[in-house]
Amino acid sequence: MFLRLFQPQDFHSVIKLESQIFHEHDPHLYMEMYEKVPGGFFVAVDAGEVIGYTVGFVSVPGKSRIFTIGVKETYRGRGVGTQLINRICDVLREKGARVASLEVRMSNIPAQHFYLRRGFIPAWVERGYYIDGEDALIMKKDL
Ligand SMILES: CC(C)(COP(=O)(O)OP(=O)(O)OC[C@H]1O[C@@H](n2cnc3c(N)ncnc32)[C@H](O)[C@@H]1OP(=O)(O)O)[C@@H](O)C(=O)NCCC(=O)NCCS
Repeated sequence: MFLRLFQPQDFHSVIKLESQIFHEHDPHLYMEMYEKVPGGFFVAVDAGEVIGYTVGFVSVPGKSRIFTIGVKETYRGRGVGTQLINRICDVLREKGARVASLEVRMSNIPAQHFYLRRGFIPAWVERGYYIDGEDALIMKKDL
């Protein structure tokens, strides 16, 4: 398994994986992300298959946002997510960010646990953030 920058030919693999992982599926966002933040979009590849991805960007000087992270279900618990989040945090720090923030569904306890163990701290709750009305927990990490 290795990480590399997203390339346009990964588009279909990423949106297929994303549609398996998340309910709110918007394929267009991914090409938009690639166009806007080509250096902040990584994929994890194993045996020629995209098995994970992450996207992050500097939102305002000094601050960054991890837009998404996902790992194929059968590959979870093997350290792929840790490598992805470490890589995106390194890149955001290199781009001058001092803080990274992300949002996670209040019901997504496994992901909250994952972020907590990697240094993210709960910051505040964004009421009704998701399209189905669920609240988001905003978590932050000093880079
Ligand atoms: C959150 C996510 C990216 C983590 O990726 P991952 O490759 O499983 O991450 P890792 O293997 O590096 O670490 C997972 C942690 O869960 C544990 N784990 C064990 N088996 C696991 C399994 N089958 N699935 C998930 N986690 C497992 C790992 O031991 C590790 O524990 P730790 O935090 O105490 O070290 C991944 O679970 C995922 O894609 N979830 C669905 C999408 C999602 O919720 N994304 C975040 C939205 S904000």
